[in-house]
Amino acid sequence: LFAGPTEFVKGVVAMSGLPDAERIEVCFAGRSNVGKSSLINALTGMKALARASNTPGRTQEINYFTAGDDFYLVDLPGYGYANAPLPVVEKWQRLLKQFLQGRQTLRRAFVLIDARHGVKSVDDEIMSLLDSAAVTFQAVLTKADKVKEVEREEILNQVRGALSKHPAAYPEIIVTSSEKGWGIPTLRTVI
Ligand code: GTP
Ligand code: MG
Repeated sequence: LFAGPTEFVKGVVAMSGLPDAERIEVCFAGRSNVGKSSLINALTGMKALARASNTPGRTQEINYFTAGDDFYLVDLPGYGYANAPLPVVEKWQRLLKQFLQGRQTLRRAFVLIDARHGVKSVDDEIMSLLDSAAVTFQAVLTKADKVKEVEREEILNQVRGALSKHPAAYPEIIVTSSEKGWGIPTLRTVI
């Protein structure tokens, strides 16, 4: 699918550092530790392309990756709780919001939701921001391997309910596990 090289381009710390708006971009947003970087690795089939870790707040810059010659995949810092000093967290969260509201080449945001936790109020805030910026977004359930099927269905219902209040949301939810590779082909197809 991604014809051409997949590689790290740059880490961006301010809007002025964004690459030229020459390619279509899709980005991965979500609470800290939800599995954004891991999902990019699973998507590209490259285990250590994006750095993942168990510490919330691992990704602190907007990281750009090429996905072939046509796309950029954009790994975002998380929102919500992070294991980093507050001023640092506030700085990257401001940048994150500026990016989501103001990146012209952004075609779709994937909003990642932990299959164990469902949509939290911080997710809802980000979704409202995307609504007002008219950025189409799609929910991706992550870490589906960590919950039983009944639990997953309950969470899916909660997520559906939350999405129904957001005009910019796609109704379809993609259920994934980066660990097991579940839903990865579907996500590739959507991109
Ligand atoms: P920040 O950069 O801190 O915002 O986190 P992130 O959203 O990029 O999460 P990351 O990909 O770093 O993953 C966080 C932790 O969850 C890591 O320990 C991953 O190994 C684990 N993880 C990610 N995806 C999955 C999954 O599908 N299943 C399981 N079991 N663990 C996962
Ligand atoms: Mg990360």
